[in-house]
Amino acid sequence: MTKYSNKKCRFVILISGRGSNMQELIKTCNSDNWPAEISAVISNNPKAAGLDWANNNYINSTYLDSSKYSNRDDFDRDLSIEIDKYSPDYILLAGFMRILGCSFVRKYYGKLINIHPSLLPAFPGLDTHGRAISSGVRIHGCTVHFVSPELDSGPIIAQGYVNVFSKDTVEILSERVLEIEHKVFPSVAHWLTLNEVILDKDDKVSILNNHNGLFYL
Ligand code: GRF
Repeated sequence: MTKYSNKKCRFVILISGRGSNMQELIKTCNSDNWPAEISAVISNNPKAAGLDWANNNYINSTYLDSSKYSNRDDFDRDLSIEIDKYSPDYILLAGFMRILGCSFVRKYYGKLINIHPSLLPAFPGLDTHGRAISSGVRIHGCTVHFVSPELDSGPIIAQGYVNVFSKDTVEILSERVLEIEHKVFPSVAHWLTLNEVILDKDDKVSILNNHNGLFYL
């Protein structure tokens, strides 16, 4: 059973680039009237196109330029100070292309949610679409998961799959995967809003109310 409360769920969204996942999250949150608020968008890249979109849409947004930091811990510390200003319930990594250190991840464990463009545990890391094509898989997609200290390996909440066709290029496949990303991430965020995603002490994820954690186009 869902636990409803009067308190709005607070999200902080972290981005690095164009921010199409961020846009879908914010648009769906607003159009579907979730009991949630996007408290802030934070980028590690001052030139992220997503920051312009957020500003133009009156979303509180800021950046911390990671290229100015020589040391990961210092960046993580400042990012943490910025995030804590908003006391978020969840921090959504929507195309945040920077590895977060162990202490940071441990501090927010259970609150940090990432979208990765592959069906984990296949293809962690970068160039997921190119590697999917080269390896000859016929199925590819995206994963929304809790972030753990090891890269792209935390407890999985939901996945979206797409076909891989023989003539696919990286561009074509990445567009197809992005389309499913835009379904999966907002759905998971909505479940989070309603307290319908449970991470237990053994790192097992349950989704309440019979939501299906598997998506397709
Ligand atoms: C997405 O494919 C996401 O899965 C990956 O980086 C891309 C970001 O796209 N981590 P956008 O910035 O959300 O448009």
